[in-house]
Amino acid sequence: MKSPLPKLFTEAKDFMPLLGTDYIEMYVSNSKQAAHFYKSAFGFESLAYSGLETGNEESESYVLIQDKIRLVLTSPLKSGTSIGKHIDKHGDGVKVVALWVDDATTAYNEAVSRGAKSYMEPFSQEDKDGKVVKSGIHTYGDVVHVFVERKEYDGIFLPGFKEWKTSYNPAPVGLKYVDHMVGNVGWGEMNTWVEFYEKVMGFTQIISFDDKDISTEYTALMSKVMSNGNGRIKFPINEPAEGKRKSQIEEYLDFYEGAGVQHIAVATDDIIKTVTDLKNRGVDFLQVPTTYYDTLEQRVGKIDEDIEPLKELGILVDRDDEGYLLQIFTKTIQARPTMFFEIIQRKGARSFGKGNFKALFEAIEREQELRGTL
Ligand code: FE2
Repeated sequence: MKSPLPKLFTEAKDFMPLLGTDYIEMYVSNSKQAAHFYKSAFGFESLAYSGLETGNEESESYVLIQDKIRLVLTSPLKSGTSIGKHIDKHGDGVKVVALWVDDATTAYNEAVSRGAKSYMEPFSQEDKDGKVVKSGIHTYGDVVHVFVERKEYDGIFLPGFKEWKTSYNPAPVGLKYVDHMVGNVGWGEMNTWVEFYEKVMGFTQIISFDDKDISTEYTALMSKVMSNGNGRIKFPINEPAEGKRKSQIEEYLDFYEGAGVQHIAVATDDIIKTVTDLKNRGVDFLQVPTTYYDTLEQRVGKIDEDIEPLKELGILVDRDDEGYLLQIFTKTIQARPTMFFEIIQRKGARSFGKGNFKALFEAIEREQELRGTL
């Protein structure tokens, strides 16, 4: 029998301790209107603002919050900026997946020494509420990871932002935290990015799906799920696979003009209430045929929820060895058929809903058919 690894070695193995998702920043063509949408439709609340009024002449950002989820929506204030070029190429999309760390300088040095491409060298920003250190590296496509060290900061969001107060404050819908964030990458590139997360970030692969797991009559994709050491950060990576017709991943890559974030999965403790609220506020969801529910109980066994409201709302259920999960996917949420949201409630299950892939992808194909992109 092999002797166990010395304690020092196992501790040193997580060279990139991540405390959680700090914020997600999207570059959008109209931050002011997008902020209104995320408040009225998704139940986010106003948190902070940066723009002309705070001395920022380049861009305007609205920061929204719902429980642990912070969303930053940024638009340029003039032509020719890197933000504007990003929007011109990709449409609205995620630019920054910010990770909360204890030490942004060490995180940066560890990543860069293992081959990450630098996006932002460590630098500190201060205001009356303290100090924040930020650094950043590139990942797939034009997406970046910004490391945020905020242990000496007490302010509303980050230095440079002021509190955003408004008289329009719709109620939250019960979204709690980011469960996982999925990246779509190009043909044959999945393993490159799996290796990137292993080598540069110290992640491990926890699940793998091949095109036999994820295929319908027409389209196919492959996926590997990467997780950091404490399991708080999970990044599935998808690539298209050959099918009879165009894969949904290929459609994304065509319209996003490259790799990028495909969906943000957010957790709730009461998916029936959350999805009822979202629907009432105008969020559109993918719909599986009602026949999905005819065999549901045979497939997943006894669950706490009544089947009827699940069927009415189109919520999917899947079971693994540890429990079950409930999930539903919005339709894409900007002009281009690119990014969407997943709402997920976990009841013990730590997987990603493999049993729903076929029904789900057939629902996506019906949407593709309408767009003429299947
Ligand atoms: Fe997902």
